[in-house]
Amino acid sequence: MQTFTRADSAGTKAVFYRQICEQLDELLGTETNFVANAANTAALLFQLLPDVNWVGFYLAQNKELILGPFQGKPACVRIPFGKGVCGRAAAEGSTIVVPDVESFPGHIACDAASRSEIVVPLINWGKVVGVLDIDSASPNRFDEDDREGLESIAAVFLAAQTSGDLPEFDEDESLD
Ligand code: SME
Repeated sequence: MQTFTRADSAGTKAVFYRQICEQLDELLGTETNFVANAANTAALLFQLLPDVNWVGFYLAQNKELILGPFQGKPACVRIPFGKGVCGRAAAEGSTIVVPDVESFPGHIACDAASRSEIVVPLINWGKVVGVLDIDSASPNRFDEDDREGLESIAAVFLAAQTSGDLPEFDEDESLD
């Protein structure tokens, strides 16, 4: 198996994320299994992103998000659509950057050390199939460059799946 290295810290975040996208593409290769790819994506991001304490996936089912592969401390298992940062990102179908979790109404604290968070919805053919959630113990850890970079990573992750490998969802989980 190939080795993975942190991108040059002197480069811009855009360059850093481009390198992670390339490494992720190489890591996933021709594998299409959703759980295996989610597990390796979480592990790669946890290794390479500086200053993060939780990286993982929640998968949508019956208007709930259910804990999927992750790295970090054990986390809450079920989050209804619309609740917490994850549920809000899933319900709205757009990325949410939270500079200070204590100022986000309804934030669900899984690791008490988390101070800031970013949640990227995974959208496949107009349906939210889950979210990618990343926490940091530092306030204000994520900015617009992280949003763009992590949305690109989510796109690489989704592109590796064939539709048959994605979890199955009810029609009413389509975004309006
Ligand atoms: N903070 C999230 C819950 C998941 S954990 O951070 C792992 C939320 O408010 O949805």
